[in-house]
Amino acid sequence: MCGITGYIGKKEALPIVFENLKKLEYRGYDSAGVAFFDFSGDQKLVKAVGKLGNLEKLIKDEKSLPTMAAIGHTRWATHGVPNEVNAHPHFDCKKEFFLVHNGIIENYRELKDGLMKKGHNFRSQTDTEVLAHLVEEYGFDLAIKKVIGAYAIAAIFKNEPQKIYIARLGSPLVIGVGKDGYYVASDPTALAGLVKKVIFLKDGQRGLLALNSIKIGPARPKIVPLEIDAEQAKKGKFPHFMLKEIFEGSEVVAAALRGRIFPQKNLIKLGGLEGVAGKIPKIKRMEIISCGTSYYAGMIGAALFKELANLPTETILASEYRYARDPKQNNTACLFISQSGETADTLAALKKAKERKYLNLGLVNAVGSSIARETDAGVYNHAGPEIGVASTKAFLSQLSILSLMSLYFGQTKFEKNSQTARSLMAELVRISAKIQLVLKQSEAIRSLVKKYAHYKNFLYLGRGYNYPVALEGALKLKEISYAHAEGYAGGEMKHGPIALIDKNFPVVALVNKNHLYEKMISNLEEIKARNGKILAIASIGDKAIAKLADDVIYVPETVEQLEPILNTVPLQLFAYYFAVAHGNDVDKPRNLAKSVTVE
Ligand code: F6R
Repeated sequence: MCGITGYIGKKEALPIVFENLKKLEYRGYDSAGVAFFDFSGDQKLVKAVGKLGNLEKLIKDEKSLPTMAAIGHTRWATHGVPNEVNAHPHFDCKKEFFLVHNGIIENYRELKDGLMKKGHNFRSQTDTEVLAHLVEEYGFDLAIKKVIGAYAIAAIFKNEPQKIYIARLGSPLVIGVGKDGYYVASDPTALAGLVKKVIFLKDGQRGLLALNSIKIGPARPKIVPLEIDAEQAKKGKFPHFMLKEIFEGSEVVAAALRGRIFPQKNLIKLGGLEGVAGKIPKIKRMEIISCGTSYYAGMIGAALFKELANLPTETILASEYRYARDPKQNNTACLFISQSGETADTLAALKKAKERKYLNLGLVNAVGSSIARETDAGVYNHAGPEIGVASTKAFLSQLSILSLMSLYFGQTKFEKNSQTARSLMAELVRISAKIQLVLKQSEAIRSLVKKYAHYKNFLYLGRGYNYPVALEGALKLKEISYAHAEGYAGGEMKHGPIALIDKNFPVVALVNKNHLYEKMISNLEEIKARNGKILAIASIGDKAIAKLADDVIYVPETVEQLEPILNTVPLQLFAYYFAVAHGNDVDKPRNLAKSVTVE
């Protein structure tokens, strides 16, 4: 989603701001712009629709000008079509104030009407422009007090060319504290390799960055180390971030378990939950709340909490939870799962759960993000930055940690883990190596995709722990390849979707050797009887499946609770090679944004 960058310091600001915009490209955008002052005090504004290359052509000459402060923005359209006028930075009537903004001004219509009555001229259809005129009318501090909604703002004034104004409410903003000056970014990834220390602005904080000084208030700012390594944010030898991140699957799972699992002692340690361990035995029910891929991880998490911690658990989409008229219930814990830690719906759901005084836990990848900060306790993925828009490595990491969390809840409630728990622990230790075995089939999957790339519709089927995997596999295919794909529980086939099956509607089936194997086989027989084509993901050694399915990708056997981890990898590779075969921009699929910071 939209990206903000800014710089004030001893170096030339414009090239820095432009390079940092490039690092935020992965978030998804449709237009971009920069505003800056050169050393003669002239303000400049350059905007372009489409990729950053278009903006680069326009600022080519400007880049040679020494600049002292600059702000930049990549826009993902919400209010108004993607065109140059709607692109940020926006400015006031006199062109004396320029700002970039992420978030949504909910009361913008009312504010705009009032400002128009006072004679302000609007040029764009955006909610952001209202802010520029509000500042013109009331000054920076008073203007932002009039806003209802969410914002992260970086702004410059013509008469103060050596300063950047910043403010945050609901949308992330981070300040990089460098030796040469101060950096502003909506996402710390943009600051990797530039600074070692950052300040994550808190809701309600505002500030002023100058050449040699920084002022942030009302709450005292906290300077913390930036925990992103610049190398992690590069593609390396891979053609796309998505492929690199799929191949990181084995390592992120190992990282998720490191120092947290001790099978010989039948023990799980989760430092992030220790502070609330005393409350866990009293918890009677759990709500897992998240969106998209994180929601599917949550569905698997719910099955794990039910089985291993004997805890009634519900999975709820954050966008539904926030508006649901559901009763408040005692002894409830909520678990918020989010890769970015900034998803607007999940944050809003967390706000509701906080009002209800539930025990709110987080499973978050982005260190220092809003969800990580706002929850009572939680566990970090430590999977490193995920740049590809389609979530891959974060999902595998979420599944590993959900296993740990359910085991931790089990041990804390019952003081001893069950036999099922012991087998799961033993297998968790082996799972990273098994992922590597699946990754070795990458080339074979690429060849297989050639047989399927011409199909326009797919049905993904799974049962039990693998039902959410079917949903996730279908989501991965549709979001990057734009093919239509639906995930279904195998047993639901006969209640409707079977009507779709014919020779042009292939089925991707998750059919591991588990307690639902025979049930899945019956579902596949029904498909075969209707001339459906089957691509099966099955357990190594299963000879029978080869007779029923048209193609088979084999994965190592594991305990049922961990099948989702191994099954997901071939589905990610299948979606990736399918999208590449169609020539799609895999890392930045159309209409999608990495971090969905608007409702
Ligand atoms: C799909 C995908 C999205 C995210 C969803 C939640 O590949 O990436 O569905 O999973 O937008 O994002 P987070 O986990 O950042 O809250």
